[in-house]
Amino acid sequence: MKIAILGFGTVGSGVYEIAKTLKNIEVKKVLEKDLSKINIATDSYDEIINDKEIELVVECMGGLHPAYEFIMKALQNKKSVVSANKAVIAKYLDEFLKTAKENNVEFRFEASVGGGIPCLAGIQKIHRIENIDKFYGIFNGTSNFILDNMYRFENEFVTSLKTAQKLGYAEADPSADIDGYDVTNKVIISFALAYDGFIKNEFPCFTMKNITKEDILYFKKQGFVAKYIGEATTKGNKYEASVMLNLFPINALEANVLSNYNIVTVQSHTMGEVKFYGQGAGKLPTANAIIQDILDAQTKISFNPISIGKKYTYSSNLFKHKYVIRSNEELKGNFEKLDKDGNNLYHYTKEITQTDLLKLVEEKDYLVVKLNEVLV
Ligand code: HSE
Repeated sequence: MKIAILGFGTVGSGVYEIAKTLKNIEVKKVLEKDLSKINIATDSYDEIINDKEIELVVECMGGLHPAYEFIMKALQNKKSVVSANKAVIAKYLDEFLKTAKENNVEFRFEASVGGGIPCLAGIQKIHRIENIDKFYGIFNGTSNFILDNMYRFENEFVTSLKTAQKLGYAEADPSADIDGYDVTNKVIISFALAYDGFIKNEFPCFTMKNITKEDILYFKKQGFVAKYIGEATTKGNKYEASVMLNLFPINALEANVLSNYNIVTVQSHTMGEVKFYGQGAGKLPTANAIIQDILDAQTKISFNPISIGKKYTYSSNLFKHKYVIRSNEELKGNFEKLDKDGNNLYHYTKEITQTDLLKLVEEKDYLVVKLNEVLV
């Protein structure tokens, strides 16, 4: 199969590197402004679109535009598309799938969640037999690196963030990673495959950037490790989801996910808990997932045909959970426990709904952490 790669950055060059080792994939063109990067580079997308030999386009540009237009144009011109671009998929998945179907081509996106970990394929495979009760996990490598670095080396947030940037994990503008937009997109995409519905960015998303070294050390003393978690579950045609810090007991698997690794857990009736663990980012792991999609697009293999037509509404009153809120002032409310550590007050809530939680914290800059109901 002859393919084109849009963008020759980290992931695009990784796809090229792996494709070179395979007989059945030939990279014919690379869309790249800097023509000196590779001898098959072109800066004209039309050249790729008009090339009848190119059957599939790999989109590795990132961002919403022109990624959206390029993906649509490829599909409309009967070329399959493989993308790792979470932002554009979380926004336009319905359009991409519809256009792919109308043109009898494939739109695949395994690498957009969990990088090299085949967690979307895993979700599809579990879901072809039964409903998925819940999924949750560490979906972002950069934020996990920061939390792990703070925990193990007792660093301040800024120090760990700088190390993550130095190692090339975090972007120069790290807000997608630490404010939760990246995890939100990954929850939306995973939800589509787990529950056959396309939800919007309308569920609570708490930044992780206000956690301090003092918080981490306090939680450590209590036997907890903080991890940045995305999760979703449904009840009938309603759903609950969140992106926020969770506390795990130190012997939980999540608590022991180090560095920039990811772990995604899927719960269902017959399987109980299944955990997908591995490298959620990086050149070759992400490129590996893209190559898998290219091979599956060739044979049109699908563990469970994707349909996202079910309608769900977000509800903040579906389930109750326990949370810890850290502030410098005493909050009004009926708490289970109040702990003082230095200048910090840690309020342990009873089981409350998301509605109650949002009322308690309002728009304030408190640290909000969920006590995860993990099975250990
Ligand atoms: N910035 C993302 C992360 C890349 O750190 O996980 C992979 O989606």
